[in-house]
Amino acid sequence: MIITIVGGGSTFTPGIVKSIALRREELGVDEVRLFDIDETRQYKVSLVVDWILKDMNSPIKLTVTTDEETAYKDSNFIFAQMRVGKYAMREQDEKIPLRHGCVGQETCGCGGLAYGLRTMYPMMKVIDDVEKYAAKDYWILNYSNPAAVVSEACRVLRPHARVINICDMPIAIMEMVGRCLDVPQFTDFDFNYFGLNHFGWFTELTYQGRDLKKEICDYVMEHKTLLPPDVIEKLRAREAVGERHLNSSWIHTWNNVYKVLNLNPEYLPNTYLQYYLLSKDVVEESDPNHTRANEVMETREKDLFEGIDHYIATGEVTAKAFYHGAHGNYIADLASALKNDSKKKFIVIVENKGAIENIASDAMVEVPAYMGKNGPEVVCQGKIGDFYKGLMEQQLASEKLLIQGGIEGSYNKVWKSFTMNKTVPSATVAKAILDDMIIANKEFWPELK
Ligand code: NAD
Ligand code: G6P
Ligand code: MN
Repeated sequence: MIITIVGGGSTFTPGIVKSIALRREELGVDEVRLFDIDETRQYKVSLVVDWILKDMNSPIKLTVTTDEETAYKDSNFIFAQMRVGKYAMREQDEKIPLRHGCVGQETCGCGGLAYGLRTMYPMMKVIDDVEKYAAKDYWILNYSNPAAVVSEACRVLRPHARVINICDMPIAIMEMVGRCLDVPQFTDFDFNYFGLNHFGWFTELTYQGRDLKKEICDYVMEHKTLLPPDVIEKLRAREAVGERHLNSSWIHTWNNVYKVLNLNPEYLPNTYLQYYLLSKDVVEESDPNHTRANEVMETREKDLFEGIDHYIATGEVTAKAFYHGAHGNYIADLASALKNDSKKKFIVIVENKGAIENIASDAMVEVPAYMGKNGPEVVCQGKIGDFYKGLMEQQLASEKLLIQGGIEGSYNKVWKSFTMNKTVPSATVAKAILDDMIIANKEFWPELK
């Protein structure tokens, strides 16, 4: 049993490998392979990965490579998490739209669309290499963002590939709900959910008969945030909160759940809806010269590479060096459910095919599914209200036009995609952002005519 991690040099690799190693027996895993196109970055990250395995006395073999055949030969699970263009391009995705007064975000709005056009063909290359070398019943579990657009590219260009696109935000929200309500068993919560990636709603959330959705909505209305009490306390005392989804701008994000819920108490919103429903507020709260990409480079990336240098110098790995938690556990648990046919429920991104009754059959939607050896068995969500349908269809059209534009090399379709996006107020603004994006992405994008 071999697991290959694509984007081996990612800041998330150490945490994911730790999650795999903790599940060695249930996964039956013998070998983990790291694959990346940046040899130097991946080599450094592999040092801490090697330390994790040794520290856990794990018999898992570690292979580190930039060669596709070595990476994928007979591999069973491929965990993809590449960032095409790295943080330097994330910074552009965030700063270019902000310069034009629009939301500047990694996966939402024009930044997400730009990132999507960079990632669609590298993702197809991963699929083709995997098909060439890996075990015939491989699964690619893809975290690479923007997952909404990447999943649409997979559907259109490689419809038969065994790819499941996923996101850690719903599980992170459930973890936060568990902390707010003091119910730590968040991986056993039951739920219903519908939407697109980074664009969805929990319609139900329960645990052992408790209506957690109602309890958490009351909690958010009372505390004006989805932050748990211990974090609210720390912030009040001006103490640093170093956790992954809690540093700096993430605090705004959890607070904005209150603003969205206060406007519409019907469902518990995914945090990412802030970018569409509160776009004006989000732009006003953003610093166009210092965005999340800068924060990540100054914190998670810096901590990891300084931690590696410290390890090289002293042989010691500090707790600050890497994050381990729900992100790695989610993908490893998903692999385990597929391998062991457990039929555990996960939220995944799949082709709709009636899961949401009144949304197009070919839409890539985010919904719950029971995961077993034959892949996702989707839990149908029935008909959704016109508000949600309208929002989703506009976003879907934007994502579909982007992929069509990328395939056809059509400037007009990509402009339509930008114009359709709810974060953009005017067609002329869409054109101005697109023209700047073309220049910034010339190394990465298909040529648009
Ligand atoms: P990172 O920049 O630290 O790591 C990404 C790695 O991908 C780099 O080492 C880079 O060299 C490599 N890479 C780039 N292009 C590649 C290619 N064509 N083939 C192979 N490797 C390539 O980024 P990060 O912050 O650790 O995030 C990694 C990815 O995971 C991003 O796409 C991020 O958006 C995504 N992510 C997704 C979720 C989710 O919910 N879906 C959650 C967290 C992170
Ligand atoms: C959440 C989302 C991911 C996104 C990440 C960004 O986990 O689900 O899709 O990539 O946040 O986090 P960051 O710390 O890099 O801003
Ligand atoms: Mn996500």
